[in-house]
Amino acid sequence: MTGPERPIHVHGDIEAANVVIGGVQNIAGDLTISVVRQASWSRPVAPNPPQHFTGRRDELDRLAEALRAGRTTAITGVQGMGGIGKTALALAAAAESGFGSVLWASLGPEPAAVGHLVSWARHADPGFTAGDSAPDVLAGRVRAALTGLVRDHCPGPVLVVLDDVWEGPSVDAARLLQLAAPAGAVFLITTRSQRVVAQLRSSRIELLPMTPEDALALLRRLLPDHPGIADEHLSELADVMGRHPLAMELAAGQARLLERPETELPDLVAQYRGGVPEGSPFATSVWNWVRAARTTLS
Ligand SMILES: Nc1ncnc2c1ncn2[C@@H]1O[C@H](COP(=O)(O)OP(=O)(O)OP(=O)(O)O)[C@@H](O)[C@H]1O
Ligand SMILES: [Mg+2]
Repeated sequence: MTGPERPIHVHGDIEAANVVIGGVQNIAGDLTISVVRQASWSRPVAPNPPQHFTGRRDELDRLAEALRAGRTTAITGVQGMGGIGKTALALAAAAESGFGSVLWASLGPEPAAVGHLVSWARHADPGFTAGDSAPDVLAGRVRAALTGLVRDHCPGPVLVVLDDVWEGPSVDAARLLQLAAPAGAVFLITTRSQRVVAQLRSSRIELLPMTPEDALALLRRLLPDHPGIADEHLSELADVMGRHPLAMELAAGQARLLERPETELPDLVAQYRGGVPEGSPFATSVWNWVRAARTTLS
């Protein structure tokens, strides 16, 4: 062993050594120091779509065409419905869109616009901070940073997804984020509100309940351990849920809890036909959407 007071002797095939002993760095021979620097930029990408994403082929094709044409487009749900699959569709569209970069921000009723702006800008400069810039000045700084990023490192079209825009402050946040997008970016919005569609001057794709084929395929994917359940019973479950994706996910969760889903599913369907069963995970809002979706189907 050696120590700080006893120099390291280098011989044989070894030309240099760098040894830390007891917190003291011991260097012998000719040493080349190379600094590993963190990548100074990163490509913005969208989160992944849900693994069990199913169907919506027609909507995906219409969306792809609108986005390719550069049209700001909003995904809405029939009757302002939540849980109908707007965000899931936006994720799937972003994944297969062919846009080189995707800037994503989920806004909601109380959006954190500055946080989104800063995280967008950090793709160009990991040390970016908002400082005390006024919002429009900050948006301009972010736009400059992103424009440089796209020009120098990520050439190609940019998709900006403004997910879950509500009326009020959420629209203001969406407008600010639009200001921060690099020139030529295309905007995809999801919202429950028709008014937001008008305020953001978007064209619109309205999501209806799923088709019978897609709804059946979704329930099959959600119940992989029960291939013995008859198509007929799964289709009945889909219909009684209004082919509403969130409702079908919750119902599939209940079906998994049954001792023998293959034989007991019709009873569960019968219960749902009568309304929301005691102790089920359906919130009132979801059950209202199910009823509205059923009306849409009939
Ligand atoms: N096409 C689909 N395939 C599989 N799962 C889906 C599909 N569409 C929606 N889902 C699932 O249904 C649930 C609700 O979907 P999502 O969050 O996209 O609804 P939303 O319309 O954005 O609702 P909100 O208005 O509350 O934002 C999610 O768990 C999602 O994974
Ligand atoms: Mg959503």
